[in-house]
Amino acid sequence: MSELSPQEIIDWSREYTFFSWSVQSQVNPIPVVRAEGVYFWDAEGNRYLDFASQLVNMNIGHTHPKVVKAIQEQAAKLPMAHPGLATEPRARLGKKLAEITPGDLKKTFFTLGGAEANENAIKLARLYTGRFKILARYRSYHGATHGAIALTGDYRRWPAEPAMPGVVHFLDPYCYRCPFGWTPQTCHRECIRHVEEVIQHEGPDQIAAIILEGVTGTNGLIIPPDDYWPRLREICDRYGILLISDEVMSGWGRTGAWFAVNHWNVVPDMITTAKGITSGYVPLGAVIVREKIAQFFEDRYLPAGLTYSAHTLACAAALATIEVYEEEGLIENARRVGEYLGRRLEEIKARYPIVGDVRYIGLFSALELVRDRATKEPFDLTPIMKFLRQHFLFAFNFKNILFVVPPLCITESQLEEGLEIIEEALAAVA
Ligand SMILES: Cc1ncc(COP(=O)(O)O)c(C=O)c1O
Repeated sequence: MSELSPQEIIDWSREYTFFSWSVQSQVNPIPVVRAEGVYFWDAEGNRYLDFASQLVNMNIGHTHPKVVKAIQEQAAKLPMAHPGLATEPRARLGKKLAEITPGDLKKTFFTLGGAEANENAIKLARLYTGRFKILARYRSYHGATHGAIALTGDYRRWPAEPAMPGVVHFLDPYCYRCPFGWTPQTCHRECIRHVEEVIQHEGPDQIAAIILEGVTGTNGLIIPPDDYWPRLREICDRYGILLISDEVMSGWGRTGAWFAVNHWNVVPDMITTAKGITSGYVPLGAVIVREKIAQFFEDRYLPAGLTYSAHTLACAAALATIEVYEEEGLIENARRVGEYLGRRLEEIKARYPIVGDVRYIGLFSALELVRDRATKEPFDLTPIMKFLRQHFLFAFNFKNILFVVPPLCITESQLEEGLEIIEEALAAVA
């Protein structure tokens, strides 16, 4: 098969395939052809520094030989198996997930990605509790399928409505723009009391679960106050509501811990995850549930299934990926390089008045840009994103928030390479 020209790659992709969340005539994709570590190359030979870890899943870096080999070997041996069969990659991965998830989280239902993990978590929560309602937050993204988009709090839900019934949204612990009008000095955790008030209004015995991102990702990198997760755990226990941590983005070392909830020593009733579980090499998602939920289905029918559940290639890729996290100390690296990143983001904030806030935990970080620090009027990032692309820095934004979320294998000097381009962009628009 002869190769396509760079322009043909773009043109055919645009003509014959849809691009996500876009006006199709306005997409301008990079024709990417290969990748290695924290870099990828386009068809013209330009090298891009990946400050987005693709879609915040390429945690171990691109084309890691260990994972590539594991996929190749599995493909040669047993590329796929009926989801009702037991396989070695499935057995090993299930056990491994029980070991690395907190507390008595034990048993996994495998899916193909994050949205399906959340769909199935909701189904399990409703069956287990016999209740119907689900609470989720406004500043959240939980996936694009019918139920997951209903859980999603942001504008991506609107075109899907009316979506799955029974979801009630509540406000976020967004300290930079506290929805209750408090400042760090006057804060008295109204954000937590508010959750309990919503529960009272909705009927505590009607609510099956509360689902929230371990640390909010695309909706602005919102890190909750330290007592937020523990107090939600207490509230859920008080009312018999299940607590679900969506660790699709915040899991897998991104925050400097296996899962974001580990920072607050909280054991949710379920963890949903995807992305970094295989670093995206093969699609895989998972719902991991606590022992009591696993037990519930011992003698009851589990009405859930997917042709590709526990796909052998995906499970083999996940096992190899987890070995890479462990052998190469990538979670420690996220913590260590993350500390450097935090210092640099604070310096950048001190230097450029358009940076209103910087938020960071491990290698999960963002800069929130404003026209005026006093009014916090959002700054339009269009010229900045254009500048970064022209300088071969691959990054993404959500409204006025620019993310810095590189692969966890990044070094300080590679990180500096990207931060300098960001500083040049800020200087250019200031
Ligand atoms: C927190 C969170 N949950 C769920 C999803 C959906 O995952 P997927 O795109 O694999 O369905 C995403 C995707 O970005 C996410 O960030």
